[in-house]
Parts: sequence; structure tokens; C-alpha cells
Amino acid sequence: MFNEEGMNAEDVLERLDELLRNDATYRTGHPIASMSTIPHSLGVDVFSRTLEKNAGRLHTFKGSAEVERQVMGMLGSLLQLETPFGTTTSGGTESNILAMLAYRERAKRRTKNPEVIVPKNAHMSLEKAAWMLGVNVVKANVDREFKARAKDIEKKITNDTVGIFATAGTTYLGQIDPVEEIGEIASSNRIPLHVDAAFGGFVIPFLADLGRGDYAFDFSVKGVTSISTDPHKMGLAPIPSGALLFNKASFMKNITRKVPYLRGASANQSSVLGTRPAASILATWAIMNHLGREGYRQVVAGCMQVTDMLAERVMKNPMLDLAIKPVMNILGIKSREVPLETIVEKMEARGWRMATSPLPPTLRLVVMPHVTEGTANAFFNVLDEVSTTIPPD
Ligand SMILES: Cc1ncc(COP(=O)(O)O)c(C=O)c1O
Repeated sequence: MFNEEGMNAEDVLERLDELLRNDATYRTGHPIASMSTIPHSLGVDVFSRTLEKNAGRLHTFKGSAEVERQVMGMLGSLLQLETPFGTTTSGGTESNILAMLAYRERAKRRTKNPEVIVPKNAHMSLEKAAWMLGVNVVKANVDREFKARAKDIEKKITNDTVGIFATAGTTYLGQIDPVEEIGEIASSNRIPLHVDAAFGGFVIPFLADLGRGDYAFDFSVKGVTSISTDPHKMGLAPIPSGALLFNKASFMKNITRKVPYLRGASANQSSVLGTRPAASILATWAIMNHLGREGYRQVVAGCMQVTDMLAERVMKNPMLDLAIKPVMNILGIKSREVPLETIVEKMEARGWRMATSPLPPTLRLVVMPHVTEGTANAFFNVLDEVSTTIPPD
């Protein structure tokens, strides 16, 4: 019900606090499968000071337009692209929609039945994008480590294929597709290749420095034409902060529409959203400048240390097993006998906010910075108890 007379602010806040009592907070560590985390305090400060700024009106907010340009430049540099074309977005979903739109438009004279090749380990936003854009999804198989099978992608190419989508940091397991092999296939067939690095974009560049594997996934790989990366995941930016980068200006043209009533930088729009917060772009800029590569390296190092500790605890539990050796700060945990749903129900009843993945059936843990060693141990103490006391199915 919408009241006729207004309430005083104190009462409003009290009511809101009451309603939000049911939210899990990152500070408790209980959301153990979330790709978001407590945003960096500098970002929160910048965000709250710049709330009125609209990135859909960059003609009005010319300073914010320059900041967005610089954010795209920093992201390009992180992903090995000197001159990025693209846009900041509201997150991975919007970036994936825009990449698919660009590739459908590029091929519109060639095919009336556009198809995209999407491996089975990809995020569902690609299916959503295809659904919205009237594009058919052709699924490609994954190997035993749940990486896309490049050979299967090659087999599935037809005259209607408008784009190939690979992932660097899968939602389910944090796995990285063989981007070099897929890039070779994409470029020899002249098909654009999008790499969804929504999660991995702020992780993989630092793994090599930490001696945890050197993965080719960015614009240095032949054939990669676009990448999505989300500062609001491991970039520690406030939600919503995503970005889509293309290696050619022509792709940008495919996603740009004129706005007849706006001027200058606002007269062309390349995002799904019209009005959109500049605050998160400004906050992203501030955090990236403040942390630098070394700051993010340390964040990733901390998350990987807790991931290793959790992986060891999984191996010590006779009822559980790892789906793969963790590549980044995501773990997929298989249950040997007890149904996953039963474990999830019991863990939820104990206050943990859980998630499961279908491929393979696992409990999914995302070790974000709010999942400290203490939190992880507390979580696992309960998981050990729950998984060893439920009778098998
Ligand atoms: C690999 C990947 N891509 C895209 C997305 C969608 O991102 P968002 O929820 O920010 O739209 C996710 C979200 O978990 C993801 O893991």
C-alpha cells in the first residue's frame, strides 16, 4: 500500500532496517557463492558523492565522459589492447547481449538465420541474449575438465554462424576455455570471437605473477575480437559496473543508435540502458587508480590462499570431492553419496547462502575477499558435520 501522508525519515529507516534484517550481509561472510563482495571503501565514497550523474547524458557530464574513456583505457591495458573500442555496462549480462548484437548485425546481409556457438559451460546470459536478439544457440561440448572443446566448436560452424563465445573464468568452476585454439578456428573461418571474462578479467591477469598458471585469454590471442569484464565482481567496484571491449571500431558501429533528442556525446547510444549511473564508472576509476595492479594482485593472492585451504578441506572429507583442481577462486564440490539438495537445505538452515551448479552437479563456492580464512573454516566445519551425518540416498 502507498500511504497518502508521508512518514518521517526516522520511521522510514526503522521500517527499512526491519525489512532488511532478512538480507545476508557480506560482512558475516555467509554469502559463500556470490560473485559480488563488499565494494572498496574509496569506491563507496565516490559512488555516494556522484549519484546524480547520468552516463546516458555524457554531453552534460563531460568530465564523466573523460573518466569513462580512462576506465576503458585501463581495462584495455589490463587485457592487452592498446586502443579499446566499447562501452562500460551494467555488468556481464549487458556486455554479452551487446557483443552478440554486434556480431548479429555484422552478418545481417549474409544470413537471415543467425547462429552463435556457445559451449555448455557458458553463463546463461548468452542464452538470454540469443533469446532477446532472435539468434539460435548451437551448443558445443566440453571436455572432462569442463573446458570448451575447440574441435567441437569447429565442427559446428555453418554459413549461419555469426559469432563464437568462449569463457575465461566459468561461472560454475572458474575454468578457462582453450582460447588460443578457439581463436585459431575463429580467425581462419573469419568469425568474431567473444571471450566472457566477466569474472576472470580481474583474476587471470594476476595468476601468472603469482605462479599459478599463465593463461592466454585476452586480446594478445589471435582471433579474439571482444571481451567482457566486470569491475563489480573481482574489481571490487560497487554494482553496477561492467565493460565490453572490442578490438575494432566497426563492431561499435553495429551497436550504436542515434538519440534524436540528445546532443554531442549523448547523441549516440551504445548501451542497452538509456539512463545509467555514472557513479559506478567513477567509482571504478577511483578504485583501479588506487589499487593499481599490485593491489589487485594482493587481492587475488589472498583469495587463492583461502581457496587452497578450502580445497584441502574438501580432500580430507571422505564424502566430498573436487570437480576440478581450482584454477581461480571458485570451487566445485561433488558429493559422493548424499544428494546435493539435502546438503544445501541443511546448510541454508544453518545460515549459509549456498549455490549449486548443474555441470557437473556440485556445490559452488566463490571465494571473494569477504570469504576470509576464518569464515571459510567456520563454513567448512558445518559442511563437514552436515555431509557426514546425513544418511546416503
Ligand atoms: C562468466 C559470467 N558471465 C556473465 C555473468 C553475468 O554477469 P552479471 O550478473 O553482472 O550480469 C556472470 C555472472 O555470474 C558470469 O559468471
